[in-house]
Amino acid sequence: MSTARIAAASVLLLLSLSPNLCKRTGVWQWNLPKGFPEPRVPVDNPMSREKVELGRRLFYDNALSQNRTQACATCHQQKFAFTDGRPQAIGSTGQAHSRNSMALTNVAYASRLTWANNLVDRLEDQALLPMFGDAPIELGLPDGKTLVDRLNVDPRYRELFAKSFAGDAAPISLRNVARAIAAFERTLISGNSAYDRYSRGDTAALSESAKRGMTLFFSERLECFHCHGGFNFADSVDHAKLPEPERAFHNTGLYNVDGKGAYPAGDRGLYKQTGKPDDMGRFKAPSLRNVAVTAPYMHDGSIATLDGVIDHYAAGGRTIESGPNAGAGSDSPLKDKFLQQSIIYSRRRVPCASVSISTGRCRSTSSNSASRSPCRHRRAPIRRAGTSSS
Ligand code: HEC
Ligand code: HEC
Repeated sequence: MSTARIAAASVLLLLSLSPNLCKRTGVWQWNLPKGFPEPRVPVDNPMSREKVELGRRLFYDNALSQNRTQACATCHQQKFAFTDGRPQAIGSTGQAHSRNSMALTNVAYASRLTWANNLVDRLEDQALLPMFGDAPIELGLPDGKTLVDRLNVDPRYRELFAKSFAGDAAPISLRNVARAIAAFERTLISGNSAYDRYSRGDTAALSESAKRGMTLFFSERLECFHCHGGFNFADSVDHAKLPEPERAFHNTGLYNVDGKGAYPAGDRGLYKQTGKPDDMGRFKAPSLRNVAVTAPYMHDGSIATLDGVIDHYAAGGRTIESGPNAGAGSDSPLKDKFLQQSIIYSRRRVPCASVSISTGRCRSTSSNSASRSPCRHRRAPIRRAGTSSS
């Protein structure tokens, strides 16, 4: 792994979870990392300690799957920042999902939910999708009554629902299950990485290599921060202080199966929902917090390592040599404008083994000489998360 790659990868290394369950009497109090805004909380689902506790219990309960083999936590495991380590998820009856399970850290700040959906914007609504979805089957519940009946026989649930939804005539309802899970998910806050500590003044928190990666990450040359910017390293962001949620979907040139930018028929991103040609291959830029533990990567888990992700961006899009998905992503006309140029490769597409931070030139190349194919990159101004547009 080259120095530049290590650096670029290291700056993304993440952090510890800091569950923020502090509460003053009667009032929910967020205990957020410095610089983090309060999440926007729907008025019909205020936070409370009891509700979060109930939501956590539900999140880990196999009763949420019809055959009692899976819970939300099966595919969203804390040790992987609440993803599952698989390329693509496998549901409770063994059906394969076409997509990679998403990390849930800081999901309270996601303005759009799932990989490519412009409509699902509330955690309360999203929670119902894995419970009842049948293409593919995830938790496989046939209906809400089945779940409500299961929970009703458990005295602990009766107590927790009654406390969390005091005043409801029938506190155990599907709606309240989704509300409690959403309240729990909003507490999965992560914001104490080495990067955060460095940003707060601890100059020893980042290695020299990571600092070089940070410079590259926030440079106009690599452009990473345009889509993975702000405190959450994402650009589909919402929080209580924003006038309205920010949202964006991008084609990163991961596929180009027809020379015109098409993605494989199984998953064409936002295009599936809108039918607009420009939405082909457009996906949400996921938050890069905790990205060190969320492998494999991308919406279909098709890149195994962070090194591989950097290779994809370095080439300005992935080239697949053979098979049904063969094609040069770097030539895709649908690729986002921030990825128009290959970033570490020269115009002749000769890969630089590493790039000098001081000169922006290739130190050496893996095949041809650097002098024949210099990486002509100016040094770019550094922008930090929190000062970028998102
Ligand atoms: C079988 C594995 C599986 C199970 C079980 C599962 N999920 Fe997921 N989850 C996924 C996959 C795969 C995605 C991406 C889906 C997509 O893009 O269509 C996802 C996406 C999400 C997202 C969107 C995150 C974001 O940043 O946009 C949330 C929130 C979520 N799941 C919560 C839950 C909750 C709550 C449960 C339990 C009720 C649950 N999941 C059960 C696999 C699973
Ligand atoms: C034009 C917007 C854009 C830019 C610029 C961009 N990304 Fe991304 N990034 C995305 C999108 C969209 C995805 C998901 C693509 C997919 O799954 O098809 C993604 C995925 C990733 C992932 C995988 C995350 C995961 O959980 O699977 C990593 C890591 C990543 N990008 C790092 C970077 C780095 C490093 C740079 C700079 C070299 C960069 N990105 C530049 C939009 C962007």
